[in-house]
Amino acid sequence: MSPTAAERRRRGPDRAIASKRRAAAGVLALAVLLAAAPPAGAGTPAGGPALEELLEGCAQCHGADGNSVMPDVPSLAGQPATFLETQLILFRERLRRSEAMAPQVKGLDDPTVIALAAHYAALPPRAAPEAGDPALLALGRELAKAGRCGTCHLRDFAGRQQIPRLAGQREDYLAMALAAYRDESRGGADTTMIDVMRGATDAEIEALAHFLARQGGQP
Ligand code: HEC
Ligand code: HEC
Repeated sequence: MSPTAAERRRRGPDRAIASKRRAAAGVLALAVLLAAAPPAGAGTPAGGPALEELLEGCAQCHGADGNSVMPDVPSLAGQPATFLETQLILFRERLRRSEAMAPQVKGLDDPTVIALAAHYAALPPRAAPEAGDPALLALGRELAKAGRCGTCHLRDFAGRQQIPRLAGQREDYLAMALAAYRDESRGGADTTMIDVMRGATDAEIEALAHFLARQGGQP
């Protein structure tokens, strides 16, 4: 985020296109991983008691309704199913690094991953929390505009396909995730966000997280 707004405007489209190409390559690699798996329905639990049991485990951290009340743990409710599938596979393949998540997804087959993703994608995201700090909100809005966050995450930050929902996400998690991209410590198959966050300051991250956590809400 070090470049000025003017530089960004000049470089924006090229960077966005390069990023999209890389994002497409990442998704393709994952599609291959998915395709290599045995077909669904071959005695795998895409519903039923095994899935229920797994979901009880997930609820311990992510909340029973997919809206997390635990510090640094993301809400999953209303995330695009493709994004959730992708991230679960990244954790499983140890491409996204998380000590909390690695044991949760160990050995999960693809039909189960798809069923877990479908479950959380269908749950309603919680209403965005109460008013925030006006100065932080204004700075966050400005940074989101300059960083073109809405071109990928959509104008209402609801996300689509492999791009996550940001609206109403926990503020502490958003700040952690943005810092992890900046510091290149998140891992994953997609370097788009590393480009976006390169050189961002802690103050910019704080403002973006404050703003995004307060977007959206119930329709
Ligand atoms: C012990 C607590 C814990 C449990 C249990 C748990 N998670 Fe997580 N989960 C986390 C944490 C912490 C993160 C954030 C990891 C990070 O970015 O460092 C996370 C991240 C995720 C993400 C990525 C979301 C995003 O916005 O990037 C998904 C998807 C997810 N978990 C799904 C699940 C599912 C499905 C289960 C049950 C099979 C589950 N989790 C069980 C703690 C947990
Ligand atoms: C060129 C498209 C693009 C732009 C522009 C973009 N993002 Fe992203 N963003 C993505 C993709 C793709 C992912 C998923 C990457 C991954 O798998 O790690 C993502 C992931 C994220 C996440 C992780 C959320 C989670 O639940 O784990 C956050 C936070 C985020 N972006 C915030 C932002 C902000 C803030 C901006 C603007 C400053 C922005 N993004 C601009 C494409 C984009």
